[in-house]
Amino acid sequence: MKILVTGANGFVGRHLVDYLKEGHTIYASGRALTPPDNLDTLYLNMDITDPSSIKKALKYSTPDVVFHLAAQSTVRLAWEDPVSTVDVNITGTINLLKALRDMMPRTRLITIGSSEEYGLTGKLGEPLTEKHPCLPQNPYAISKFAMGQMVLQLSQKYEMEVIHVRPFNHFGPGQQMGYVVSDFASQIAEIEQKIKPPVLRVGNLNAKRDFTDVTDVVRAYALLMEKSPAAGIYNVCSGIARSAQDILEILINQAKVSIEVVQDASKLRPSEVPLFIGSNAKIYQATTWRPKLEFENSIIKTLNWWRDK
Ligand code: GDD
Repeated sequence: MKILVTGANGFVGRHLVDYLKEGHTIYASGRALTPPDNLDTLYLNMDITDPSSIKKALKYSTPDVVFHLAAQSTVRLAWEDPVSTVDVNITGTINLLKALRDMMPRTRLITIGSSEEYGLTGKLGEPLTEKHPCLPQNPYAISKFAMGQMVLQLSQKYEMEVIHVRPFNHFGPGQQMGYVVSDFASQIAEIEQKIKPPVLRVGNLNAKRDFTDVTDVVRAYALLMEKSPAAGIYNVCSGIARSAQDILEILINQAKVSIEVVQDASKLRPSEVPLFIGSNAKIYQATTWRPKLEFENSIIKTLNWWRDK
C-alpha cells in the first residue's frame, strides 16, 4: 500500500515509519524543507496549516491510507499557546480532510486523538470506553476532542472512511523532554554523567495514567490500517493505571548514583485529571491487538536511550 504519514519526523511518526516501511511505500511528511536526518524513506514537505502544500503532497503521493500524526502534542504548550494549538490540531486536520475529499475521497484517514479527550470523565475511575462522554479539561484536550468530532461528522457527510484513535500515554526511545518518562529518565542520565547535581525535579507524582510502549502503539495503528475495521473511535491503551511515582521508582532503582527527589512547583499543572485508565476491548475485538511489551523493560529501554544520547 501507499501510505502518507504526516508528522513523520515526530516521536511516534518515526516509530510508525520504521514499523510500516517493510512491505509498504511510505511517504513521510513534515514541515522541514529538507528530509530530516535518518528518516529512511521518501520525504515530502507539507505544512498542515497550508491547504496548498497538503494538496501538493497528496497529488505526489496518491496514498491509499493517510496517518495524520502532525500535531501540537504537548499539554503544557497548549496552555501557553492555545491559538496555534487550535490552528494545527483542529484547522490543520480539517484542511487535510477537505483536501482528501476534493482529491481522493476513497483514501482512508486515520487521525490521532488523545485519551485527554475524556477529561473529567476519567474521575469515574473505571476503564474508559469509546462510549464514555468526553469532558476535556485543558486546551490540548479540547483541541483533540474538537478535531475528532470534526473528522467524524464531516467524514459522514463526505461519505469518507475515518478512524479516530485515542491513544493513552505512550513513551519510548526518541521521546523528547516534556513527557513524564523522558523528563525523569533524561535527568537521571545527566545526573549519572555529572552534568547535573544529584537532584531530580518532579511534578505531581500522584496522578495515574495508562502507559503503553510506543512500539506497541504503532503496532496498534498498523493493525487498524490492515484489518480495516468500521469507521469510528478506537482507544489504544493497556487497561492498567500507573502513577508518575511508579515510574519514578523503577527509574530510581536503575540509577547508578543516589538521587534526591524534589517537587518543582513549575511542573504542576493548572488543572489535572487525577486518573485515566482505558478499555482496549473495542480494538481487541476489531484487530486482536493488546500490548505485548513488559512495562518495566520499556521504561529501562527509554532510560538507556537517554544514557546513550
Ligand atoms: N511531563 C511531566 N514531567 N509530567 C509529570 C512530571 C514531570 O516532571 N512529574 C509528574 N508528572 C505527571 C503529570 O502531571 C501527569 O499527571 C503525568 O505525569 C503524565 O504527564 P505527561 O507525560 O506530560 O503526559 P500527559 O498525560 O500530560 O499527556 C500525554 O499523554 C496524552 C495521552 O493521554 C501527551 O503525550 C499527550 O500528547 C497525549 O495525548
